Amino acid sequence: MTQLDELSFGLISSLLQARTGQELTETRRWRVGTVLSPLFRDYGITTSSQFLAKITEDEKGSFVAEMIDALLNNETYFFRDPAVFNTIREQVLPQLAAKLANRKQLRIWSVGCSTGQEALSLAMMFAEAPSTWDGWTIEVVGTDVSAKAIAAARRGVYSHFEVQRGLAIGQMLRFFDETPTGWRVKPELARMVEFSEENLLDKVPKPGSFDLILCRNVLLYFDLATRTRAFQRLGEAMHSNSLLLLGGGETVVGQTGYVKPDDSLPSFFKLAKSASDGHDFQLAASS
Ligand SMILES: C[S@@+](CC[C@H](N)C(=O)[O-])C[C@H]1O[C@@H](n2cnc3c(N)ncnc32)[C@H](O)[C@@H]1O
Repeated sequence: MTQLDELSFGLISSLLQARTGQELTETRRWRVGTVLSPLFRDYGITTSSQFLAKITEDEKGSFVAEMIDALLNNETYFFRDPAVFNTIREQVLPQLAAKLANRKQLRIWSVGCSTGQEALSLAMMFAEAPSTWDGWTIEVVGTDVSAKAIAAARRGVYSHFEVQRGLAIGQMLRFFDETPTGWRVKPELARMVEFSEENLLDKVPKPGSFDLILCRNVLLYFDLATRTRAFQRLGEAMHSNSLLLLGGGETVVGQTGYVKPDDSLPSFFKLAKSASDGHDFQLAASS
């Protein structure tokens, strides 16, 4: 494994932060050498000075892009945290359905969707309740800063291990076709979900239009200032009836004035101020 000196480690750390907002804390430092060793092997890098030379000559930026991608934690699985998906199915969606009954349109954003399992889990919940959602337009948007993860999400082919993680056998057979390369998402499900490569800190795909946002296990490695910026972006994507869900143990308290806990649904959050009563998009846009 290539031993990196302080200068190289500092450079990796600032590149990661500049591109994704993620902080390379001391506790994650030990992972860097292990995670980057296949990439360094591919590029024949065995010393810090070779690494620094590679960074300097990386005109197209492909080496840095691959390095950043390798450093991101893409851990995910279908119906991760089943209790949360039960709450969405039994409480959140009926509440949104009642509020949006005239419009019959629902737009959901899976932020930091990784290889797509979270977005597809949501799509499956709609497909499993056709009579409830008959006549509705359901759109699930998945975005992630990782090009590799988005390419995998768009491909929609999962290994046996990946489909077994979180899916019942009936769901595997109903929503996937078994192929020689893995389990391919069926078109009826794939067409409900749209994936794109986006940095949450840069821009919001469809401002003010998402009814439900899942941003789980994404903000963990952001420092406080970056997290505050991320909450501004999430706030820009919401309207007065939207709900935001974070990962277990993640909160907005003390980190933003844009979103606040929802009184009726523990662990969900809503917009603190709507656009009409002074939600400060000026402030969000200028940061
Ligand atoms: C641990 S995974 C969580 C996946 C999924 N949300 C879940 O909980 O199962 C975190 C994902 O956030 C993505 N991510 C990190 N920083 C991001 C940013 N600034 N914008 C968008 N996605 C980001 C990573 O690439 C990674 O795929």
